[in-house]
Amino acid sequence: MLETLNAQPQDKILQLIAMYRDDPRSTKIDLGVGVYKDATGLTPVMRAVKAAEKTLWETEKTKTYTGLAGEPAYNAAMVAMILGGAHGDRAASVATPGGTGAIRQALELIKLSNPGATVWLSNPTWPNHPSIIKYLGMKMAEYRYFDAASGEVDFAGMLADLDRVAPGDVVLLHGCCHNPTGANLTMDQWGQVVGLLLQKRVIPFVDLAYQGFGDGLEEDAAATRLIADTFPEVLIAASCSKNFGIYRERTGILIALTSADRKAVVQGNLNFLNRQNYSFPPDHGARLVTMILEDAALRADWQAELEEVRQNMLTLRQTLSDELRKATNSDRFDFVARHRGMFSRLGLTEAQVNVLREKHGIYMVGDSRINIAGLNARTVPILAAAIASVI
Ligand code: LMR
Repeated sequence: MLETLNAQPQDKILQLIAMYRDDPRSTKIDLGVGVYKDATGLTPVMRAVKAAEKTLWETEKTKTYTGLAGEPAYNAAMVAMILGGAHGDRAASVATPGGTGAIRQALELIKLSNPGATVWLSNPTWPNHPSIIKYLGMKMAEYRYFDAASGEVDFAGMLADLDRVAPGDVVLLHGCCHNPTGANLTMDQWGQVVGLLLQKRVIPFVDLAYQGFGDGLEEDAAATRLIADTFPEVLIAASCSKNFGIYRERTGILIALTSADRKAVVQGNLNFLNRQNYSFPPDHGARLVTMILEDAALRADWQAELEEVRQNMLTLRQTLSDELRKATNSDRFDFVARHRGMFSRLGLTEAQVNVLREKHGIYMVGDSRINIAGLNARTVPILAAAIASVI
């Protein structure tokens, strides 16, 4: 049986991890996979997470199964963090293994309720979005999103393409910190997109993987909240990997907003999908998140550290933009300072990306996406000089 299998294409982001690891040069710089790193290159365990883990170790008396949808307190705390206390009465939700698990379960839910729906993706988007959709045999289409020349959102192109969606289609939107481009809509533009999609009677599906990494914890939820306030049905896939720094604990949530009287049926279907795919969701990370969100002191400390992380990335953006100005004697890369989140797509060719990797030991995704958090004060000028030498 297994001899019938063909080799699968490598995931371009994960492939970079191995290439970087195998590079013997001590000067190599990793700007590939989206994990936050401090100035020493460490992806730290956040203080509040450590404190919650200690308490949990001291107080946890059982590892028996939790709820099929996750521990209710986790779901409630996450729904409140994302939606600001509104919509609890119409929010069905399940804890999932990370944000990817939430995306997978959302797509399964779409398939279950409307197998013919087309899922619209921004061009470009996180490569795993189309990969999972294709694997599930669902229909997909793309809407324009990025203007490579300016490094900003191609808003006219986006609106023109979203004008073609059919009623009942699903439109996947990055709630904040667009991956891979780093270019984001203003709230005024969000208002226009929401107005158009409401008219088109589509189901918005928000991927919220970086809440707190862009303009702030509340600010980064603003678009998602606007969508929740406007549409009768919304899917939200959120991740705690980045904002709580608990990547390997696989902690995410899928929220399905519906009417209050449909909530129980939708919840039952989410539970069913968890049971089919992995039964009970992982608990450790979810429990830590709950402890942090429910305890005023832990929550304040977590938010303070998250804010340090965010400010650090903003500083790196500004210094990289300044260094690129100097090194290239142009304003071509000024968008780096305007972008938000972990990533910026630089607009380099694949050949230029390859030279940066082979000659300079600088690793970025082939579409020239860099992880801003992979930089530090020492490596910013090195990157700027290397980029200037390849363009
Ligand atoms: C990324 O885009 O680098 C992250 O979301 C990590 C991943 O799983 O791809």
